[in-house]
Amino acid sequence: GMKTVVFPVAGLGTRFLPATKAVPKEMLPVVDKPLIQYAVEEAVSAGAETLIFVTGRTKNAIADHFDTAYELETELASKNKNDLLEIAQSVVPKNVSCLYVRQSQPLGLGHAILCAKPMVQESVFGVILPDDLIYNPQSPALAQLAQHHGQTGSSVVSVSEVRPEHVSRYGVVDAPSFEGRSGRLQGIVEKPNPEDAPSNLAVVGRYVLSSEIFSILENTEADHRGEIQITDAIATLLKHHPVDAYRFEGQQFDCGNKLGFLQATVTLGTKHAEVGEAFADWLNQIEH
Ligand code: UTP
Repeated sequence: GMKTVVFPVAGLGTRFLPATKAVPKEMLPVVDKPLIQYAVEEAVSAGAETLIFVTGRTKNAIADHFDTAYELETELASKNKNDLLEIAQSVVPKNVSCLYVRQSQPLGLGHAILCAKPMVQESVFGVILPDDLIYNPQSPALAQLAQHHGQTGSSVVSVSEVRPEHVSRYGVVDAPSFEGRSGRLQGIVEKPNPEDAPSNLAVVGRYVLSSEIFSILENTEADHRGEIQITDAIATLLKHHPVDAYRFEGQQFDCGNKLGFLQATVTLGTKHAEVGEAFADWLNQIEH
């Protein structure tokens, strides 16, 4: 199984300024949970027991969130507020370890993943970018990828169809033998021009990677912006190790930009156990 998941969360989140000046973007809540907690719950439901957060200087709130909140818990316990105590204590199950490592310079997503190398003990590990929120309570996206890895032994990159005119915003895969939900990767390119794009299947923030990726990342050159791209390392990996693209089931929101974040808030708001119905009623009223 896949026991280790890496969360690269060292990015600056400039698209959310001023909200992200002092608060990491991964701590922005969709309804009542920070983005990072959706990501952690997805990892845990895929079987992860070691969570590795690659953080930066302004990200202490993330470590605090998954730590014991001693004063808060003592206060809630003394007032017999057991429901709230349970919520505060259950952000991460007791059998799950949280490890933290700093990426001291923003040298790209590939470099952030490489920072986790000393902590990854297994030959295969998962990666979740918390900005990409994937809603599928029945079958969380990373568990779908892990299952595909279990059946095939391949490394797995999650993909989703995008409008052809939007391919230049994403990593795009070349997987001509697609059948059902998956296809063997023959190539992968970062932000292609629409006329050069090998497909309209864009990479989304979920990966299951062979630990061979680390030595490849160590030898991957930075791009013209000075960043080491995971896309370039995967393009090397697939030459001698099977990598599959997997079209997951679920609704994806790019919460790294404002529009995607608002769409996630409205969609998850209308499904929320406590406020969903009242929120949906209110939305219906304001639409008329
Ligand atoms: P983004 O491209 O969204 O960049 O990174 P960002 O800095 O987080 O946000 P903006 O564009 O300034 O608003 C994609 C993912 O890769 C991580 C980010 O934390 C995010 O999860 N990342 C990116 C790193 O951990 N380190 C890096 O050097 C770059």
